Amino acid sequence: MTSPTAFWLAGRQVTGDDTFDVTSPWDGRLVAKVTIPTDAQVEEAVSAAHAIREDFAATPAHIRAAALDHVSRRLADRTEEIAQLISAENGKPIKWARGEVGRAVSVFRFAAEEARRFNAGEAQRLDTDAGGQGRLALTRRFPKGVVLGIAPFNFPLNLCAHKIAPAIAAGVPIILKPAPATPLAGLIIGDLLAETELPAGSWSILPVANDKMPALVQDERLPVISFTGSEKVGYAIMDSVPRKHCTLELGGNGAAVVLADYASDADLDWAATRIATFSNYQGGQSCISVQRVIADTAVYDRLLPRIVAAVEAQVTGDPADDKTDVGPLVSEDAAKRVESWVDEAVTAGATLLTGGKRDGASYAPTVLTDVPADTTISCEEVFGPVLTVTKVDGEAAAFAAANDSKYGLQAGVFTHDLQVAFRAHRALEVGGVVIGDVPSYRADQMPYGGAKQSGVGREGVKFAMDDYTYERVLVLTGLAL
Ligand code: SIN
Repeated sequence: MTSPTAFWLAGRQVTGDDTFDVTSPWDGRLVAKVTIPTDAQVEEAVSAAHAIREDFAATPAHIRAAALDHVSRRLADRTEEIAQLISAENGKPIKWARGEVGRAVSVFRFAAEEARRFNAGEAQRLDTDAGGQGRLALTRRFPKGVVLGIAPFNFPLNLCAHKIAPAIAAGVPIILKPAPATPLAGLIIGDLLAETELPAGSWSILPVANDKMPALVQDERLPVISFTGSEKVGYAIMDSVPRKHCTLELGGNGAAVVLADYASDADLDWAATRIATFSNYQGGQSCISVQRVIADTAVYDRLLPRIVAAVEAQVTGDPADDKTDVGPLVSEDAAKRVESWVDEAVTAGATLLTGGKRDGASYAPTVLTDVPADTTISCEEVFGPVLTVTKVDGEAAAFAAANDSKYGLQAGVFTHDLQVAFRAHRALEVGGVVIGDVPSYRADQMPYGGAKQSGVGREGVKFAMDDYTYERVLVLTGLAL
């Protein structure tokens, strides 16, 4: 084993006094030892970010854009190495890990483009009333302050990219905390940022231990918190700092609705394949994976066997193997929790059509029907390779069933009818509606975030930049307009 992986403090690579182990969820092997920042090092990073905030906001766009373009290019150059690291620390199948690196390449590229476009200002004439004669308002955006970004384990590279790239694009310093189970991919972003001319202090990547986070969350020099993770932790953070600006990207139990007009063999094959793939990608550990299939009576009997066959065709096993579709969950504890929820549903009367077996941290792709509405798996986010299938009668019942959840992140609606698409957009209480595909579709430039208990605020590069900044108006007077 080589020396412990260092972290990034105000643009410098440093080590702390202590280390923690990062292990593979697939075979338990040690992937890396990572050093933990001391309290003094965390303080140094925060005070450096606070001190640079005004200068960083004034950094010319071309410097920030060039740095972001550089990171994008270097991620592309190092795709295979980084994908292997993601797969090792997270257990994500290598083909999905390569896809994640590709997305992060795009996130940094979008951020470079947005940095060039951002904040040209919007002019409004004020001489629409006599009192505003000769006056013009120019509105531009300015940082709310240093961002504390807290990233989850399920997309260890791309969800770090979604916090750090928009911050740099908007000229906002950021302290990023990657997830303790999967810090390595986030730390690699530091390798690439360190090759740029961004000022020291504008970014730090600190694998702070979870029990040290409350102090950082409370720190008044960090007025913006961007958190992706569980509903419980997200709301605990927001409740602990009610006066801070919090963006929360929380859970979901994504619904895929298949309506009566989506009825040809080709339609149902497509819907079943997409549903099977995206209930199981990253082992179902995505906030927008398909958890609930809601199918119209007209198509249910032809759809269900196709879904079961497509789920059974998912290749499970070693995440390093190119052929693997579904690897382990992030830990054996996570797989045990999924197992207990499925067992609870079956005991309560659900029918298990396939799967339902655990082997260490791996859980077999699972399909359930007849699931009672009050079971944990019906109400909560399973974050595992499990889907439930429910029969409904008609569009209104389908949309009501999709809305029958405390969550509202994204929904997929399989229909060919444009009028239905617009009705779905109006009726579904979610942050995004995808027509003709699963809820799991996310393009990284789109606004992304939830309604109801799926969160507050939006990511998606430009939307995160707006979230990190606020509008300030400049009123000019005495003008010949
Ligand atoms: C998430 O799990 O919230 C992120 C999903 C994605 O970026 O595709």
